[in-house]
Amino acid sequence: MRLVLLGPPGAGKGTQAQFVAAERRVPKISTGDIFRANVSRGTELGVAAKKYMDAGDLVPDEVTIEMVRDRLGEEDCAHGFLLDGFPRTVPQAEVLGEILTEHGHPPVDVVLELVVDDDEVVRRLSGRRTCRTCNRVWHVDFDPPEVDNVCDVDRGELYQRDDDREEVVRHRLDVYAEQTAPLVAYYAQRGVLVGLDATGPVDDVTLRAIDALRRFA
Ligand code: AP5
Repeated sequence: MRLVLLGPPGAGKGTQAQFVAAERRVPKISTGDIFRANVSRGTELGVAAKKYMDAGDLVPDEVTIEMVRDRLGEEDCAHGFLLDGFPRTVPQAEVLGEILTEHGHPPVDVVLELVVDDDEVVRRLSGRRTCRTCNRVWHVDFDPPEVDNVCDVDRGELYQRDDDREEVVRHRLDVYAEQTAPLVAYYAQRGVLVGLDATGPVDDVTLRAIDALRRFA
């Protein structure tokens, strides 16, 4: 299955991606995680991306698209993948279709749109903590680890993302509305969009997501 998770910052894409990708047995590809790994390693890509990420803006398409093109060419993507955070613009969506054709794959099977309102986004992102080593996402109130600031999975240190400050979150929401929300109509027209109520406990959202995907084999 070739699956895309779409939704505003803080909708729960990263949280659901880890469970849904495991259930569907496909690799999870998060452009945000790839950029953050490059920032922490100080690579050329990381240096190029950092100023956009810190400001809550999108990294330019030409940088992002080449990175995804390379990743989708890897062997583990041959039978499917889950994309978290890509595409985020109509040009990215168009190139994704071209990349799949180049690799001899059919188009995207399903685009799962996680729907939450802006106030919930701010609540979720202000309490988010992420593991430095495995990228597992936690929340201080809604999904706390057993020990403060320590990941249950691998005992890694948890940190708060620089772009989770409230003013940056508000800007990211504007960027989403202007540049990414048009993808809802884009994929609806292609008959692959599924809207998902992403409110309520994490496990309930996961069950809803898995159930919605069963209809697509
Ligand atoms: P990216 O990391 O993709 O950020 P994002 O899309 O803004 O999404 P988030 O990671 O903030 O949120 P999420 O939906 O994954 O929510 P999460 O599961 O963590 O991108 C970061 C930056 O990289 C971008 O701003 C851009 O600069 C750049 N970039 C990335 N991709 C790009 C692209 N394609 N093109 C250009 N630039 C790109 O959940 C949030 C919190 O809520 C967590 O604490 C979680 O525990 C909690 N939570 C989750 N579900 C629930 C629930 N049901 N109830 C209560 N709490 C919940």
